Amino acid sequence: MGTTTLARPGLAELVAGIREVTARTAGPRETALAVAGVLRERLPSPEILTEREREGSPETYTRHTLHTEAAFSVVGIVWRAGQGTRIHDHVAWCAFGILQGVEDETLYRDRGDHLTEVGRALNRAGDVSGFAPPGDIHRVRNTGATTAVSLHVYGVDLSRHPSSVRRDYDLPVR
Ligand SMILES: [Fe+2]
Repeated sequence: MGTTTLARPGLAELVAGIREVTARTAGPRETALAVAGVLRERLPSPEILTEREREGSPETYTRHTLHTEAAFSVVGIVWRAGQGTRIHDHVAWCAFGILQGVEDETLYRDRGDHLTEVGRALNRAGDVSGFAPPGDIHRVRNTGATTAVSLHVYGVDLSRHPSSVRRDYDLPVR
């Protein structure tokens, strides 16, 4: 069971490609990288979201679940300048691509009573990456001056699970 609105431009082709690789890949890391490959080849334009959706919200970044099925879900996220997530990790593999703007991603390692920063990437329109737990603690922020739009594919059926997030981290970073 799942929900979808495949009429969105580029979504049907993307979903078909992801379905194919998730059916034949084995482990989560391999799947994340294969799905990132599909995203790289079939990355939709920002118009996969409506003009209204792309406006975002002054309150917080906004998420739009575009498609769900048993093996994965596709989510579009709109980030106004300065908006970002908390530090978190995921219940499943994830691949994402930037459709518009710039996203700053910081990676952390859990040291028990604190976190340390272990990496940082500035992802621009067209950039794609994929990862799988464990070791996927990160925070994503729009550090650009304009609204950013990204597309995230999670290896979880979001019509059956409330969230792709495993936990938020409130530990100090040092
Ligand atoms: Fe995340």
